[in-house]
Amino acid sequence: LVVIVDFGGQYAQLIARRVRECGVYCEILPYVKSAEEILAKNPKAIILSGGPASVNAPDAPKVDTRIFDAGIPVLGICYGMQLICSELGGKVARPEKREYGHAMFYRDGSSPLFEGVSKETAVWMSHGDSVTDMPAGFGLAGHTDLTPTAAVADEARRIYGVQFHPEVVHTPEGTTMLKNFLFEIAGCQGGWSMGNYIDIAVKSIREQVGNHNVICALSGGVDSSVAAVLVHKAIGDQLTCVFVDHGFLRLGEAEQVVDTFTNKFNMKLVHIDASKHFMDLLKGVTEPEKKRKTIGAEFIHTFQEEANKIPDVKFLVQGTLYPDVVESGTATASTIKSHHNVGGLPKDMKFSLIEPLRELFKDEVRQLGRELGLPEEVINRQPFPGPGLAIRIIGEITPERLDILRRADFIVRDVIKQRGLYNDIWQSFAVLPAAIRSVGVQGDERTYDYTVGIRAVTSSDGMTADYFHFPWEVLDEMSRRICNEVKGVNRVVYDVTSKPPSTIEWE
Ligand code: XMP
Repeated sequence: LVVIVDFGGQYAQLIARRVRECGVYCEILPYVKSAEEILAKNPKAIILSGGPASVNAPDAPKVDTRIFDAGIPVLGICYGMQLICSELGGKVARPEKREYGHAMFYRDGSSPLFEGVSKETAVWMSHGDSVTDMPAGFGLAGHTDLTPTAAVADEARRIYGVQFHPEVVHTPEGTTMLKNFLFEIAGCQGGWSMGNYIDIAVKSIREQVGNHNVICALSGGVDSSVAAVLVHKAIGDQLTCVFVDHGFLRLGEAEQVVDTFTNKFNMKLVHIDASKHFMDLLKGVTEPEKKRKTIGAEFIHTFQEEANKIPDVKFLVQGTLYPDVVESGTATASTIKSHHNVGGLPKDMKFSLIEPLRELFKDEVRQLGRELGLPEEVINRQPFPGPGLAIRIIGEITPERLDILRRADFIVRDVIKQRGLYNDIWQSFAVLPAAIRSVGVQGDERTYDYTVGIRAVTSSDGMTADYFHFPWEVLDEMSRRICNEVKGVNRVVYDVTSKPPSTIEWE
């Protein structure tokens, strides 16, 4: 095991991910942990992450320096390197020029950290401070044009520091450096995989839960599904999943959720079909935010009512991923955005949380889901908003409109899947701008029917998006099929706006 001490950089988790990719298990601990707590993990190596602070600031985060005396190899990255140097007797100062972005790194000496790395190699820099004096025992291991001390090494104590970020893709030989540190210097074994993650998570969930009962809100999304199956693996029927079906899911989706969890995984699932109730509540509601709030509040109310019926529930499973943790602000990372996850559960519920995916990125969760045997449809599901199809009917929701949208949406996704485009697209769906009726002619008869909008975007995080450039024949097939197969539609349009200025959803 490797311990990564987190000083609040956006990069701490990325380091963990790279270490896992090398086949080495690691855990992230906040910098406030004592040396005893860190060493109790029995780490083969310790990595000190980057961070936004300056080591010279009065309230700078520090690390318990006794870790340097334990004989365990330490690698400091960016802030981590500066901290090593300042704590062990060197000096850190703010140079006139900050270094940010690409830089050429030149090796000095022959540290095993850079074994097999080119003499000159591109690295990614992002720092205000620099090390000006190395502590006693340290030698220079590399420099860049702007930073004379870009890598330092105390080979005797096996303590290393790099000013650049080996964990980002912009440092192409970064993985070689990390591997050198993990395998050659620290003697890690490798061979760890997501399968091992399951064993570790199962053990820790069992310890956390004891004999209590656990509840989980299932939506059919990737994250909550993987979290639920993982927790079920740990504690079996102590877990009850509650699936609040608000009636705004896509065609066949509710059935799929029930089938997957009850039949395939044999889990305790309470399926609450509240579709009629939600439809009644939304009668006459056209304003998007009112739709969201109504659905969100009722969802929570329904879930809570169900939770109250189960005895001795102490824990709630949440499929929180690492990016969600960063976005909503962690103890150490600063807040980037507060996101609008309507359809989620409030933070102040009386349960303690079990968040077994907190340290993982989305693609790691997918890998974990595969290991757990979840079907590909669940694993590759596109993001779907909590309020579902309710915010894809522009205007009032009626059963007839919902039925039209659901069928049209199915065709959009079906064509995309058949054409092998599904994994190239972030989200693809149909919308029904219900205020529009237009004249058409079908079977020699005049029609006055709905228009369906097709929306498909590429994105990496949903914050910005580009509309997807479909080949014409794909749009053509969708258009024909929708008009032929969905009664009540006589016109299909494609949305060619990106975000910004639009948003992904129409409401
Ligand atoms: P927009 O429409 O803001 O969407 O570009 C960005 C991402 O967020 C999803 N989205 C929601 N998710 N509840 C959710 O859980 C909501 O109310 C909601 N509104 C938008 C949207 O599908 C996209 O992935």
